[in-house]
Amino acid sequence: MKIKKAVIPAAGYGTRSLPVTKVIPKEMFPIKSKPAIQYVVEEAINSGIEEILMIVSRNKHTIIDYFDRSLELETFLQTQQKSHLINKLILPNVHLEYIRQQEAKGLGHALSLAKRFVQDEPFAVLLPDDLIISDQPALKALTDTYVEKQAPVIGVMQVPKERLRQYGVVMSQPLQHQLHQINHLVEKPRSPISTNLAIVGRYVLQPTIFKHLDTVQPDLSGEIQLTDALKALLTNTSILAYELTGKRFDIGLEDDYVQLIQLLHNS
Ligand code: G1P
Repeated sequence: MKIKKAVIPAAGYGTRSLPVTKVIPKEMFPIKSKPAIQYVVEEAINSGIEEILMIVSRNKHTIIDYFDRSLELETFLQTQQKSHLINKLILPNVHLEYIRQQEAKGLGHALSLAKRFVQDEPFAVLLPDDLIISDQPALKALTDTYVEKQAPVIGVMQVPKERLRQYGVVMSQPLQHQLHQINHLVEKPRSPISTNLAIVGRYVLQPTIFKHLDTVQPDLSGEIQLTDALKALLTNTSILAYELTGKRFDIGLEDDYVQLIQLLHNS
């Protein structure tokens, strides 16, 4: 079965990038005249996705505006003999829907709002903070693996030990090239842990995750964590980790953002 649906949770406050995120969602940070989230949408489309649900929040209307067609601007360009610029306005060819998360209760809660959209199909999740630049779209490796193995797949990458505490991490055993069987997951481990594999914001999941998202306990900050729901799922379902290649950039980190712009500028 082909993976046709994807969910992009984009409801966070972007506190790491304040003050600019008071008015510009980090998903809209420009990278070569396109907002960051467009790269993620294009990755999804290039991986075969046909329908996307974005979970947004109150201050994210610019995302919705951006993906709207602007007939007024198109007409203006035409009347000004600038119709060659209209090509720049062509939007990614995909069905887009939006839901607003009413309360900032974490990634797991945001994702739980996708239940009606997903219905009974396996689906992808792309976290738009994470931009992954690779030859093949990162998500495609995960959807291909899902189609072959029929089990949930999480994208992971090796990160230095001292940075593990910033991520959800997985403990696993190797299955085959780039593929691991997950034994355990921890969201932002506080003590040393015997792994170097961090979750990097790409998932292919089954609708069974929703029952765990609805029942898992919030963490100490009151947020429902997707990693905790996956941990609960692991008690009766095999979950795979796929070690992604390519370069990952967290656009909420200033250094990563600058490096990404430089990389794409030079390419
Ligand atoms: C989220 C996930 C975490 C994952 C990370 C990747 O954390 O909860 O498991 O490793 O994205 O970017 P956040 O960065 O939103 O705190």
